[in-house]
Amino acid sequence: MAKTKTTFFCQNCGTQYAKWLGQCNSCHQWNTIVEEVIQKEEKRSWKQTTNTKRVSNALKINEIPFDKEDKILTKNNELNRVLGGGLVRGSMLLLGGEPGIGKSTLLLQIALTLPKKVLYVSGEESQSQIKMRAERLQNTNTNCLILTETNTQNIFKVIEELTPDVVVIDSIQTLYTEYIEASPGSISQIRETTAELIKFAKETATPVLLIGHITKDGNIAGPKILEHMVDVVLQFEGDRNHTYRILRAIKNRFGSTAEIGIYEMQHTGLREVENPSEILISQKEDNLSGTAIAATLEGVRPLMIEVQALVSTAVYGTPQRSSTGYDIKRLNMLLAVLEKRAGFRLGAKDVFLNIAGGIRVDDPAIDLAVISAILSSNEDIAIPQDFCFAAEIGLAGEIRPVSRVGQRILEAEKLGFHKIFISKFNKVNSSNYTIKIVKITKVEDVFSNLFT
Ligand code: TYD
Ligand code: MG
Repeated sequence: MAKTKTTFFCQNCGTQYAKWLGQCNSCHQWNTIVEEVIQKEEKRSWKQTTNTKRVSNALKINEIPFDKEDKILTKNNELNRVLGGGLVRGSMLLLGGEPGIGKSTLLLQIALTLPKKVLYVSGEESQSQIKMRAERLQNTNTNCLILTETNTQNIFKVIEELTPDVVVIDSIQTLYTEYIEASPGSISQIRETTAELIKFAKETATPVLLIGHITKDGNIAGPKILEHMVDVVLQFEGDRNHTYRILRAIKNRFGSTAEIGIYEMQHTGLREVENPSEILISQKEDNLSGTAIAATLEGVRPLMIEVQALVSTAVYGTPQRSSTGYDIKRLNMLLAVLEKRAGFRLGAKDVFLNIAGGIRVDDPAIDLAVISAILSSNEDIAIPQDFCFAAEIGLAGEIRPVSRVGQRILEAEKLGFHKIFISKFNKVNSSNYTIKIVKITKVEDVFSNLFT
């Protein structure tokens, strides 16, 4: 019998050690080093029978054959956009997200609509459970094969038999390879099974879509090297109490990471949201104080987003500041700017901020809308519904220009807004637009421009 071999792995970053340590030397986390059983056989591949010895030769870059059609377009336009034009042959994609957010639903939906032979391997659900889900999705691709298996060697046997064009794995944490004795979901298993799948993907030019679980603090479970190994890392996020979901690229070797895809979870699966601005702005009868609309950009797509603020007298000694969908530190900074530069006494007030629709915004162009919503709530004067904002605020209280302002103005115009507030330093020719453009320079001018 072979002797059992063990090594120690940091569960946070995947660094390997010969003996146990209290703290990882590489990522400096405490108590993350765990002993795992490994047993490696030297010679192996994803395909046992292959014995090809191909010598790879270097080519001049302009001699490398290049096929523009090399991407497989899915029927899902939001995913195509995030990927930068479809699935690249031989690429590995990792989709991460909280439990129940809809990862399995998204990939099953894609598998069911792809005009290709797809093998959907699930280690989490039974075939009949997947069938039940597919019934809800009301899509039946007769070319989609469902396999429930967790052993990679068995999966590769099925793959050899069926030769699918695309492989989906739900999820990487349930897979195990026979060559290693650690339990599924451990660092060494995740690393080995991913390595086997990568080898398979590259050798056969088959795209592999992996689902990955995330940990409590939002990182993909398993070693960080998992993210380095794959070509594309996508994150599926959203508030579980809201129906909107956002698909973001964290890493993409074939396209930009600035694009997002927006979906709505319905009882028949995920619906693509093609015109997000219309749904993110709540339709209301009356003018209410404390809301302002920001003209933001996510990737190349303009998004009109509603910011809601509530300012009230603090009940306790220390005022509360809370924010959903917006960085709390940035909110505190904006409040300090308002206090110092514009003389608004907000130090004794509770301030609550919310971005409607349960989405998270990183575009700094939302700052002016945040300040306007706070002022509107503080003074209890509503901002007219046809006003919108696009500018960043600096520490000196200056209103800073934002990128691609023309695109934002056009979107606001298209959605029927009549006035947009931007920075004076954004070069725009007002005569090109029918919407009224108000240019401001300092944060102390916001109030007078809005309410007088
Ligand atoms: P699921 O894809 O199983 O999540 P994950 O794989 O990320 O853990 O999604 C499960 C949730 O989605 C569940 O709470 C129910 C909801 N759902 C719908 O609302 N409509 C549907 O058509 C489907 C299939 C799921
Ligand atoms: Mg799932």
